[in-house]
Amino acid sequence: MRIDVVSIFPAYLEALSLSLVGKAVEAGVISLAVHDLRDATHDRHRTVDDTPYGGGPGMVMSPEPWGESLDALRASGGEAAPVLVIPTPSGVRFDQAMADDWSAAGWLVFACGRYEGIDARVADHYRERSDWAGVLEVSIGDYVLAGGEAAALVMIEAVARLLPGVLGNEVSAREDSFAAGEMSRRVEGPIYTKPPTWRGLDVPDVLMSGHHGRIAQWRREQSEERTRRMRPDLG
Ligand code: ADE
Repeated sequence: MRIDVVSIFPAYLEALSLSLVGKAVEAGVISLAVHDLRDATHDRHRTVDDTPYGGGPGMVMSPEPWGESLDALRASGGEAAPVLVIPTPSGVRFDQAMADDWSAAGWLVFACGRYEGIDARVADHYRERSDWAGVLEVSIGDYVLAGGEAAALVMIEAVARLLPGVLGNEVSAREDSFAAGEMSRRVEGPIYTKPPTWRGLDVPDVLMSGHHGRIAQWRREQSEERTRRMRPDLG
């Protein structure tokens, strides 16, 4: 899979060289590049924003550098069209099913906005372009970040761990979509490892019993109880 990220803070994305995503890049499962939006500016101050038409607080990212940067990216690729992902708090909510869908895409381009966001014509334009596979404006949750970079990190990690050859324990595509379905119904219960007693707290006996049937039933009950308590919106 090819992933490009465009941002005015390319250093923000350095975390992608670590851990699971970093290993996937090293292994050649993901071809990742981060691009500085300011490279597509031509004035002395490398300006990327301007005041909003109609008034209001803050600044809006100008369409020109975005158009130039995204066109250059598109031109660097072949036949297969990229999906343009624009992280924004006003987008559709990102979830496991979306990560699952995206893991089958060949090429994702993340356009990370700052300030009040990107001029709306950028999304409109790339949605009309037949050499792009679509535009998705996506939110990672109901809170406002200072920019799309942290959201892009979240989404890229969620997608990367689903790619074949990335997780140590190979998960099948069928199990992934099962996980996406499960996740919208329930959360996992508590988990334990050694030692059996820690600071006076014991691991539940049933987990030491070796009775697979009872263990499975206990885990189901714990999952249901925790879902009621932590996520009353599910199930
Ligand atoms: N940019 C700012 N806030 C965001 C959010 N919650 N999700 C995605 N992108 C964002």
